[in-house]
Order: sequence, then structure tokens, then C-alpha cells
Amino acid sequence: MKHIVTAKAPVNIALIKYWGKEDEAKVIPYTGSLSLSVSELYTVTTIKHSSHGFSFTLNGKKASKADALKIKKFLSHFAQEHELEDISVISENTGPTASGAASSASGFAALAKAANTFFETNFENEILASITRLGSGSACRSLFGGLVVWEKTGEVYTIREDGFDFIMVFALLTHQRKSISSKQAMKNTVSTSPYYEAWVSKTTQDLIAMKHAIHVEDLRTIGELTQSSALAMHASMLSATPPTLFLTHHSLEIIHGIMDLQRHGEFAYPTMDAGMHVKILTNAQSLPKVLETLDAFKVKDIIVTHPEKGAHILYEE
Ligand code: PMV
Repeated sequence: MKHIVTAKAPVNIALIKYWGKEDEAKVIPYTGSLSLSVSELYTVTTIKHSSHGFSFTLNGKKASKADALKIKKFLSHFAQEHELEDISVISENTGPTASGAASSASGFAALAKAANTFFETNFENEILASITRLGSGSACRSLFGGLVVWEKTGEVYTIREDGFDFIMVFALLTHQRKSISSKQAMKNTVSTSPYYEAWVSKTTQDLIAMKHAIHVEDLRTIGELTQSSALAMHASMLSATPPTLFLTHHSLEIIHGIMDLQRHGEFAYPTMDAGMHVKILTNAQSLPKVLETLDAFKVKDIIVTHPEKGAHILYEE
């Protein structure tokens, strides 16, 4: 066991969304997904020895008992129960936690990366990814950099390191925590949406089309598939019982504004996750127009992000 290990992991935003588990316990998705790991939004996590029993501190505050237990349970994949008694875990997120800015993905990726070194388990990528996704499915994609594929089979890999120098703009609309977790919303969609089967077949085809578009560098198709995957995912939630409605008038206003830019030839495509925020896939050339459009709406925070490498160790001793 090491004395202290610090790891950093990026947030990732899916261009082809993951929405639904075939196996809840092992977190096996119904479909593969594809994301972009981004800079500027990330988690830095330190694991170290402490003499005060297990503790978990998130953004400077001691976490609730329930959250600490969740982290302890996750770490038990790397260590025995008794080894966890005198450990403290300190995590810092940039950006709001649990409101759809994907902080749980960077959080569990940073924790898994740090734990793998701290407890000297040194699991290979595939095993590390299979543990990481138990914390949060999408977290396994944050282990890798650039454009990343998470196959239904469990394989996770970078398909394009430089991520085409895309820019992902986060239009964050609230600092409040979301009212329903992605886990709950996802489960509800799988079990009640009449569109779920259609979602699975569309996503399976979209992932193939997306890989091809990346291979032939067809940027427009990458943008169109990105937009379509997010809207279809929200359609599946809207058709569930009870419906999950993350979209607000504010999200829709922004989506309309961004779609207008497309009609004027700009490279700008909206995507959304399990929250009201809108993220825009764009490039350096179209960025000024995107920012100008967002200026017209009351956006709480605008964060401009670029492709980033995957989770890595910052410090170990
Ligand atoms: O990682 P989870 O279990 O919170 O699921 C997140 C799913 C979405 O963010 C909505 C889509 C995705 O692929 O990241």
C-alpha cells in the first residue's frame, strides 16, 4: 500500500449516449456509447492514510454517511475491509456536483485510478473499467482520453486521441442538484418506455455510423449523430411512466438557438444529459457564434472545454 496517491480524471460528454442497463449489478449497458473527454471540468482525488477512521471529503466538506459508505463500498473492490479503516479520500470537482455536468463520471474515474495505485492492485484497463463502471456507468469512459468508445462487451478504448480539436461548450443553467438521479431515470425508462426497443436499435446503428464518420473525418455527420442521440434519449425518457422531464423552456430555447446556427452553416450541435444543462459540440471557427447565441439567454455559467487525456496519476509516494 502507498502512503498517498492523487489522481485526476476528466469529465466526459457522450456523443452517442448510454441509457439503460441490461445487467444492473454488473452495469452492462444495452448498447455501446461514445464520448469526448474534456479539460476544464475534472475531478482531483487523493487517497491517504489517516488516524481518524474512514472519511470522505468532497469539495472541502465532509460527505454524508450515505455518500461515505458508497465510496467505501467502491474501494472494497481494491482493498480488504480492514485496510479501509484508516483511509481518507479527498475529492475536488470543478463545476457543480450532481446536476448533469457529469461530475460522477470524473469522480469515479479519478477514485478508481487513485485506488488502483494506492492499494497496488495494478488492474489492467479492462478490469479497471469493469470496476469503475460500478460507481457510475459513464465513468469508465473518463479513464481514457479524446473520443472514447465503451462497447457493450465492456471494452473501453480511445478511437481518436485528438478529438478533432472539437470544443464542447457547457451552458450550465442551474447550480441546484437534480431532482432525480440518472440511475433511477434510466431504470424507469428501460422498464416503462414503449420506445425503449427503438432506442436500443437506433443507438446500435448510430454507434456504427459514428465510428465510420470518425474514421472518414465526416464532421457534419458526427455533429448530426450527436444531436440526434441526445434528443432520442430524452424522447425515451419523456415516454416513460412516470415521465422524466429534464428539458426546461430554457434548455429548449438554447437548442433552438443552436439549431439556427446550423442553418447558417455553423458547426454547432446541442447535446444534453440527465439534467437541464445544454452542451454544444462546436469548433474554433464556430465558437464565437455559439458564445454570441448563448449571450442572448440567461446562462449561469458558460464553460468552454477542449479534448483532454484520460485519468492519470498526479502524485504518489
Ligand atoms: O453514468 P451514469 O450512470 O450517471 O449515466 C449517465 C448517462 C448519461 O450521462 C445521460 C449519458 C452518457 O452516456 O453519459
